[in-house]
Amino acid sequence: MSWKIKVNQNIVEMEYAVRGPIPQRAMVLRKQGMKTIPCNIGNPQALGQKPITFYRQVLGLLENTELISRERNLNNLSTIDGIELISEDVLEYCENFLSKMETGMGAYTDSKGPLFIRENIAKYIDKRDGVNSEIGVPANPDNIFMTDGASEGAKNILELLITNENDGIMIPIPQYPLYSATIKRCGGVQVNYYPNEDDDWSLNREILDDSYKNAINNGVDLKAIVVINPANPTGAILDEQSIREVVSFANDNNLAIIADEVYQENLYGGEFISFAEAIRGTDIPLFSLHSTSKGFYGECGHRGGYLEVRNPPKVYGFDIPFVDVLFKQASVNLCSNTVGQAMVYMMVTPPLNGTTSSLLFNSEKENILNELHEKALIIKDAFTQMDGVECFGRIGAMYLFPRLNKIPAETTDFDYCMNLLKTTGLTTVNGSGFGQKSGTHHLRIAFLPPKDMLQEVLPQWIKFHNEYVR
Ligand SMILES: Cc1ncc(COP(=O)(O)O)c(C=O)c1O
Repeated sequence: MSWKIKVNQNIVEMEYAVRGPIPQRAMVLRKQGMKTIPCNIGNPQALGQKPITFYRQVLGLLENTELISRERNLNNLSTIDGIELISEDVLEYCENFLSKMETGMGAYTDSKGPLFIRENIAKYIDKRDGVNSEIGVPANPDNIFMTDGASEGAKNILELLITNENDGIMIPIPQYPLYSATIKRCGGVQVNYYPNEDDDWSLNREILDDSYKNAINNGVDLKAIVVINPANPTGAILDEQSIREVVSFANDNNLAIIADEVYQENLYGGEFISFAEAIRGTDIPLFSLHSTSKGFYGECGHRGGYLEVRNPPKVYGFDIPFVDVLFKQASVNLCSNTVGQAMVYMMVTPPLNGTTSSLLFNSEKENILNELHEKALIIKDAFTQMDGVECFGRIGAMYLFPRLNKIPAETTDFDYCMNLLKTTGLTTVNGSGFGQKSGTHHLRIAFLPPKDMLQEVLPQWIKFHNEYVR
């Protein structure tokens, strides 16, 4: 007799296309010897992006402090071919970090993350948003929670906001499936809104009001709106007007804003405006997320991230500050991982300009970002040679999300992506995996593979496409 066990239905029904059937098929093909190009996920180092030297030197020394003592005990720092392995400023950076990280790298920390790191996150946010003694409200380190990647912050906040099966969260369609999956897991209602693709995925009041009215008419109790900027999967950078529309909409309808801003450094076609800046002067509760997985850092596996809370609301029915409830939630996990914490510290506290390590740091950063931009343009250019392919949005993040206007009526974008994989090895994600306006077809491609790989596969894709649509 085999055991049967009842499990959480919501988890069984959750979907996560980014690691769904197409990447799984790619794995099988790879095992059979086919060369595949994994463009299905924003995982830069899996596609050969080199880690920033400074980050790895610091992480290595923080984890093995004896190496710092060893370097210090030598009369001169270790060299290879006359070049210092570790520069003086890196040693100082580590010593400074460790002097504040009182219990070292192997101990649990404060559940929110060490205070000195949160203070530096607050300074970073203020600098980014141009906060000074006259403009803006400084970020409060007490309202910052360090997390294992941005995913944990998103999950925690959704778990807290969804109290019953009527509670709804507005999410953009297409969306990054962390949101649909987590809303499902928490048993809430996913309320879709549809950015205007033909206008570079912009937003206006009508779009937001339509979605709101629909939800209210169906008896949904709306709690918050999620905005992903720059977006995944579209890669589009939201323009200022769209951001203002979201703010006034949230204000008028008493909705909190969850701003997923993990791609804030990946900007190729426009400027980034943070929601912390955009809500200035309002009391809209804002939960913003950032991560060390994206940008030029690309340290996805090290799981660094933070959640910043602004204008924390009152807790209905309880005399307890909102941030204390979040703290309780964080405490159950004890703390986020310390390597991720160190990564966040380095993200917000880069090497000082003028130091030896800053020279290499700045050039590596620039190369990574320039190359990403170049690769995005190479792919976008290939679309012009594909019959009926259009791609909108001011380029940001790590993705392009072309619309496939001429897919034969009897097939879907899933079929297209599966056939593209089998024919060329190119692993993408079908648009339906992220949600899309009915009747449209898309795919998402991460512009991460090395240029030579792209240059080899793009002509094959163009040929495949034009034959497929014919
Ligand atoms: C929009 C968005 N938010 C959050 C995440 C998760 O990031 P992290 O690795 O920090 O958990 C991703 C990952 O791809 C993402 O695209």
